[in-house]
Amino acid sequence: MYLKLVFTMLFILSVGRTVLADDYNHQHKKPVTMQMKTQHRIMTVINNEWNAAKKAIDSGDLRSAEKSLQTILDKSQYMEKFVGYKNADKHAEFISEYHLFVTHVKNLRDKISGQDSSAPESLKKEIQDSCIRCHAKFK
Ligand code: HEC
Repeated sequence: MYLKLVFTMLFILSVGRTVLADDYNHQHKKPVTMQMKTQHRIMTVINNEWNAAKKAIDSGDLRSAEKSLQTILDKSQYMEKFVGYKNADKHAEFISEYHLFVTHVKNLRDKISGQDSSAPESLKKEIQDSCIRCHAKFK
């Protein structure tokens, strides 16, 4: 009777350990790769939406340009949580680049949502420069 109880307890303990070990692996190993994958995905979406926005502006389709720019703004919130990039120890600098980028994208979005398609070239260039500057330092 006691022996059965002891075996049952041991069984429960060993299952518990396996579950805990899995949990540990999830928390300490996999998230790094998941995180990197997420970062790649976020930047890929931003890249695609930026290309779409530029095209839409050039063809005068301000509605879809605005939509793409809004998606960039929504997705770029995640950039604040980026880790493991080049020069990651200069996190404060990364964050100010990120803030600049968001400001430039907002400026263009606001101009476009006012149906103002005049001279967006300089605003476009500011965003493009922002991509290049941040990548030069951090990608
Ligand atoms: C505030 C910094 C910052 C800004 C601004 C920025 N990026 Fe990035 N970008 C990064 C970092 C860091 C990586 C590398 C991410 C990684 O490898 O996890 C990256 C990676 C990429 C990649 C490669 C994606 C992949 O497969 O890893 C592309 C494409 C890209 N960015 C496009 C853009 C475009 C287009 C813009 C501007 C519209 C932009 N980025 C603005 C920091 C930035």
